[in-house]
Amino acid sequence: MTLRLGDTAPDFTANTTQGELSFHDWKQGQWAILFSHPKDFTPVCTTELGYTAKLADEFAARNAKAIAVSVDSVDDHNAWLGDIEETQGTAVNFPIIDDSSRTVADLYDMIHPNADNTLTVRSVFVIDPNNAVRLTITYQASTGRNFDEILRVLDSLQLTDGYKVATPVNWTDGDDVIVSPALSDDEANELFSAGFTTLKPYLRTTPQPNR
Ligand code: BEZ
Repeated sequence: MTLRLGDTAPDFTANTTQGELSFHDWKQGQWAILFSHPKDFTPVCTTELGYTAKLADEFAARNAKAIAVSVDSVDDHNAWLGDIEETQGTAVNFPIIDDSSRTVADLYDMIHPNADNTLTVRSVFVIDPNNAVRLTITYQASTGRNFDEILRVLDSLQLTDGYKVATPVNWTDGDDVIVSPALSDDEANELFSAGFTTLKPYLRTTPQPNR
């Protein structure tokens, strides 16, 4: 099933390195970063899971948590955890799903036959507290992901959910933002006490309003 932005993220029950869980219950009230990797005991995946573990405080600050999935068994995941800790200098502190049944891979369309019909690709789904899919990204197996980008997108999603703004190219938390084109100048003046700068009638910037 192809998931689109705004779709409800499918629920599932799965065995993981932290025991059995039901996805919607596990993430209740929080943002989730559900990400697949092709295979345990592979080099790029080892670096990705280690780096993601290091971001635990950053995720917590954003009311978010990570969960990984591959078609390997929980026994394989558990055997691999020691290698990740040894080589990446951090213990994996989030669950890794045993998807040997491919239930999650099928629900989230994580197997791409033109790449490899036995392995999950590197998918990332950012799912909001209401279980809506808010970001999807897919990488081929040989390209490790940039998880700092996931934090940046979380910041943008949370900001733009709360304020009538959009975030410009390469925006990071604290940078100026774009006033929603749907607002008139009068409405923008009411909403943004710091005022705004008009570069074009459709391109107005304002300091980040929650700072
Ligand atoms: C890796 O994680 O290094 C990897 C996994 C599958 C194919 C290629 C690379």
